This record gives sequence, structure tokens and C-alpha cells, in this order.
Amino acid sequence: MAAKKQAKAKIKSPVAAKIAPPEGYFGEFGGRFVSELLIPALDELTAAWKKFSTDTKFNKELMGLYNDYAGRPSLLTYAPNLSKNWKAQVYLKREDLLHTGSHKINNTLGQALLAQKMKKTRIIAETGAGQHGVAAATAAALMQIPAHIYMGTEDVRRQALNCFRMRLLGATVAGVGGEHGTLRDAVNEALRDWSKNVDDTYYLIGSPIGPHPYPTIVRTLQSIIGREARGQIMKATGKLPQAVFACVGGGSNAIGMFYAFLKDSKVELIGAEAGGRSLTPGNHSASLTAGKPGVLHGALTYIIQNSEGQVHDVHSISAGLDYPGVSPEHAYLLQQGRTKYVAVRDKQALEAFQELSHSEGVIPALESAHAVAAAKNYVHEQAKKGKKNPLVLICISGRGDKDVQEVERLLAEPAEVETEELPSEPTQFTSLPTVKVVAAGGE
Ligand SMILES: Cc1ncc(COP(=O)(O)O)c(C=O)c1O
Repeated sequence: MAAKKQAKAKIKSPVAAKIAPPEGYFGEFGGRFVSELLIPALDELTAAWKKFSTDTKFNKELMGLYNDYAGRPSLLTYAPNLSKNWKAQVYLKREDLLHTGSHKINNTLGQALLAQKMKKTRIIAETGAGQHGVAAATAAALMQIPAHIYMGTEDVRRQALNCFRMRLLGATVAGVGGEHGTLRDAVNEALRDWSKNVDDTYYLIGSPIGPHPYPTIVRTLQSIIGREARGQIMKATGKLPQAVFACVGGGSNAIGMFYAFLKDSKVELIGAEAGGRSLTPGNHSASLTAGKPGVLHGALTYIIQNSEGQVHDVHSISAGLDYPGVSPEHAYLLQQGRTKYVAVRDKQALEAFQELSHSEGVIPALESAHAVAAAKNYVHEQAKKGKKNPLVLICISGRGDKDVQEVERLLAEPAEVETEELPSEPTQFTSLPTVKVVAAGGE
């Protein structure tokens, strides 16, 4: 009888069974493709994460920081004017209202607290848009742990304000990667530093990228976004959204938003990648839309690469999306057909940046503007299919203060954001190359 009941329960939740990731891997993606030097540090981190992430005291302390320091729960805002103009019901999850101005604080508070518990005396981090750098420097200041931030030189130029903020917060900032250095160079330098200083240093990674256990740690810390949003939208409307949107750089706000909805099989989960100027190599950073499986920064995932497997230069109007890889969990969810990804051009993101500002009085980060543009395209497509008034939920991952100067410059130079037409169809999964997978230890 008990066995019969169990079998019934299993059949009831096929989605749950399908999405449960094995330890250290998301299907075939993830793992630890790193130098031997880092394995002990990753093992130490895995053990500490296992211990503290299930510890009631640690979780209570973290919730205290989320509520009383970061400003959680973040609001869910109905967007009346976009709703009217788009003929839809549009809700915004307002991560832009958090302390430091983006979702990045969810992750840095959690990892800095972990670093403190692990008795690490130095924090290092990489940053693209500078939002993660600012959030890491903030959390490090709060915990009184010295922080050193790596940032691509091109990003230091584009995000000068955030760079100064990090220094004000007491962190040191190193520009890396030569004249055109971006997030990829910053991650490379941070990994190099960590491999030399594993004893006293905590590497506080900003997205669910890199070797196991980072993708799991960052996703778990960011999953508060979706947990709150799911409850809030149910309370506000009495139903689940038809589709949920989030921008995808490394993938943290998107996986954080999507995670609570994975088992709601009717809810479409759509990631907006940076389609840049066009989908030709060097003009975008849409890893899932236009990349192929490969290894980057210690994980098997989707990356933008040339025919010899070398990582290609990438481009995006927004520094935070300018990365040639993505979380292995997104790669897995794409493979499973549970999530979709669309490429949003620079020009569309710039338009959405202005549209949200005019329509709702909310200036989004350029990264988040990609999600707004993707939602608008989706509503249009739905209308063409005769599906009226869809309920859509958009993650506004951050606020646009850091971007206003760059946007002002770009609006004065429209030629810089001229783009080719892109297909609006979501990506199909491309099959994996044969890769030998190395065991990655526990979750
Ligand atoms: C506001 C904002 N949104 C999104 C991103 C992209 O990161 P992720 O894909 O990890 O959420 C960044 C990165 O810096 C950011 O600053």
C-alpha cells in the first residue's frame, strides 16, 4: 500500500523529477574544470556552504540582514501605464529599490557572511557593471573584511561612478585586461588571485558561474527574488503570471527569479540576453541564444566561441551583460526546454530604458531594460496570436543611476547603437560536444 502511494506521488510531480539537479552538476553542465590548486579551496567552500546554508542561526542572521539592511522584501509594483499601452497586466519586481541599487546585494551579504564564518580575512571579487563590486565592497565593509575588486578597464571607464563608490566603501579596485578589458578578464584575474591566496582569501563571485559550488551558492542566495515575487503576485492577482522575464548576464537575477516558478509548468520563463548590435561574432553577448557548449571559468556551460573553441570577444550596451558565458543551470534548463532565451538588441534595450522611465517613473539599469524589451516583444507576439491581456512579471534587477551618463552619450551618438534585425524566436538547444566530466563533490 505504502509503495503504491509512493509511486502515485512520483507520477504527480514529473516536473520536479526532471529538474532536480545532481550534486555539482545541472544535467551534464557545471562541474569543476579548474587547476588542482583550487580543488582544496572549492572543497573547503563546499563543506562550509553545506554546514551554514542548513544552519538555522546562519539563515536567521542572513534574513535579518536582508530585512533590516538590504530592504527586503522588495516591492512588487503594478505598472499601470505600460499595462495600458501594451494591453497587458504588467508587474515589476523591484530589486532596484534594494540597498546599493540591485539584486547583487542578496548574494554578497550571504557570501560575505559565509566568509566571516569561515574566518577568511580578505575578500576578492570581480565586477562588470560595478554593481556586484559595490555590493561586495558594501558587504565587506559591514563585516569589516578588506576587499579587493577586479574590474575590466573598459568597464572602469563605462562605470566610473561605481568604481568611485567601491573606493569610498574602503575597497581597492584593479583595472585589468588592457584597454578593452571587461568582465571575462576580471573573472580570470580573480581566479588567478584566489589560486595564489586560498588560505586567507574568500572569492566572492557575483553570478552563478564558475566551478561548483558557486552556481548553487549564488542561485540559492538569489532565489529569494522569485520566492517573494511568486507570493506577491498571487496575493495581488490571485493567479500565477503567464510569463516571467529577467535579463541574463551570468544569470543570477534570472535564476533567482525563475527558481520558485520551475514547477509551475504553465508559467513561461524567458531570459533576455544581450543581442548587442547583431548576432554576428563580436557584436553580442547572447551565450545561450548564439553560443555553444564549452568550458569557461571552470564550468561546462554555453559560451560564445569561435570554430576552434576559443572564447570570442563579446559586446553589450550594458556592462553587466557583457560576458561570454552563463550559469550552467540556465544551460541545463534550456536543454530541458523549461526556460527560453531571447536576444534583445542594444537599440531595443535603449528604447525600453526610456519607455519605462517615461511611463512609470522608474529608471531601470540598462541590463534590466533588456527584460522590459523582451516582455514588450512577447506581449506583441501574444496579441498577434489573439491572446489578450497577458499577465507578465518582469524582474527589474537594478536601477539606472549608474547608466544615465552612458545613455546620454549614446542618445547623442545614435550610430553607435544601430543594429541589424535579429530573429525574435527563442533559441533551440544545441547538442553537447563530447566532454569528459570530472566528479565535483557534494552540493
Ligand atoms: C542591475 C544588473 N542586472 C543584471 C546584471 C547581470 O547579472 P546577472 O545575470 O548575474 O543577474 C547585472 C550585472 O552586473 C546588473 O548590474
